[in-house]
Amino acid sequence: MDPGARPRGRRGVTAAVSRSGTRVERLPLSRFTTLGVGGEAEVWFVTSHDALAEAMERPYRILGGGSNLVIADAGVPERVLRLSGPLAERDLTPDPLLSTPARVVTGWVGGGVPLPGLVRQLQKLGLSGLEGTVGIPAQVGGAVWMNAGTRYGEMFDGLHTIELVTPEGTRQVTPDDLPWGYRQSGIPRNHVVSRVRLALTVSTPDAVLAKMDFADQARRGQPKMKTPGCAFKNPGGVSAGQLIDEAGLKGTRIGNALIAPEHANFIVNLGGATAADVHALLDTVRARVKVPLELEYELWPGQAEP
Ligand code: FAD
Ligand code: EPU
Repeated sequence: MDPGARPRGRRGVTAAVSRSGTRVERLPLSRFTTLGVGGEAEVWFVTSHDALAEAMERPYRILGGGSNLVIADAGVPERVLRLSGPLAERDLTPDPLLSTPARVVTGWVGGGVPLPGLVRQLQKLGLSGLEGTVGIPAQVGGAVWMNAGTRYGEMFDGLHTIELVTPEGTRQVTPDDLPWGYRQSGIPRNHVVSRVRLALTVSTPDAVLAKMDFADQARRGQPKMKTPGCAFKNPGGVSAGQLIDEAGLKGTRIGNALIAPEHANFIVNLGGATAADVHALLDTVRARVKVPLELEYELWPGQAEP
C-alpha cells in the first residue's frame, strides 16, 4: 500500500485512500472472479481519469468482470485496477450530431458497466447491435478488450468510439483503427478501455428480444456452475469443446476442478478448486487433444504456453 495513504475502514480490512482519493484495499481476488479462485492483491477502485493516472504510476493489471480469468492462489504482486463510480456509469442519450433516424450513437458508457444489464437495457430501448453478446458475464471494458461474442454477434458490432487510457495519456480510437477479429480487439495489454460510445441500429424491443432469445438458445447446454467460460478458442472454426469431448475428457476431475460433463470446453469449480487444479486440467487437455489449442482464459500472473 502506498506510503502516505491513510488507513481507514472496517476492523480487519486493510483499506486506505490514495493521493487522488482512490479507495485501495488488499482483497482476495476470488471474490471478483466467476471461477471463484484467486489470492490477494491490492485493488484500486478507480473512479476518474486522475485516479487512473495515479494508479498507473506502478505496475498494474486491469480487472473487469473476472469472467475470463484464472488467478493464482498466491494472488498477483501488481496493483489491480477496478473501474468504479463514473467509470461504471452509462449515458445512452442519443448524440444529436451523430445520430440519425436509423442509427443511434450514444453518450459515454463506462468500461466498468456490467454487460448483461446494458444488453437488457438496450433491448428495452429497441436498440440493436449488442444482442448477440447476451449471457456474457463481462464488463464492457473486458468485453471490448477480448471482443467477446458468439456466432450471433460480438462486441465490435456495436462500437463507435473507444477511449483508451495508458500511462502516456488518453486517446480515442474507432473500430476501423484496430485489427480486431474473433476474440481479439488488437488493443494492447494494459491499455485501459475506460469508456466507449455505442453505435446501434434503431429497431423495436420485440425484434431485439427475438434475436436475444435466439442467441440464448445456444447457451442451453452450458454448465451453470462457477466457471470462467470456454477454456480454449475454437481452432479454425471447429468447436474446441467437441475436440476435447472426442478425446474422452468430459468429467475429468483434478482436485476440485472438473471438465464439465455438459460442455467439454468449460472447466468448473466444484467448490474449493485451486488455480493449480485448473492448470493441471488445461495441461491434460493439451496433452490429449492432437490439434493445437490456443488458450482463451487469461492466467494471472501468467504461465508459459507451449
Ligand atoms: P476479465 O475476465 O476481468 O479480464 C479479461 C481480460 O480483459 C484481462 O486481460 C483484463 O486485464 C482485460 N480487461 C478487463 N477489463 C478491461 C478494461 N476496462 N480495459 C482493458 N482491459 C480490460 N466469452 C465470449 O466471448 N463469448 C461467450 O459466449 C462467453 N460466455 C461466457 C459464459 C460464462 C458463464 C462465463 C463465465 C464466461 C463467458 N465468456 C464468454 C468469457 C468472458 O465473459 C469474456 O472473455 C469477457 O470478454 C471477459 O470480460 P471481463 O470483463 O470479465 O474481463
Ligand atoms: N460439442 C460437442 N461436445 C462438447 C461441446 C460441444 O460435441 O462438449 C459440439 C456441439 O454438439 C455442437 C458444436 O460442438 O455441434 C458447437 O458447440 P456450441 O454450440 O456449444 O459452440 P462452441 O463453439 O463450443 C462457442 C463459443 C462460446 C459461445 C457458444 C455459443 C468459443 C470458444 N466458444 O462455443 O463462447 O457461448 O459458441 O455461441 O468460441 C466463451 O468464449 O467463453 C464461450 C462460452
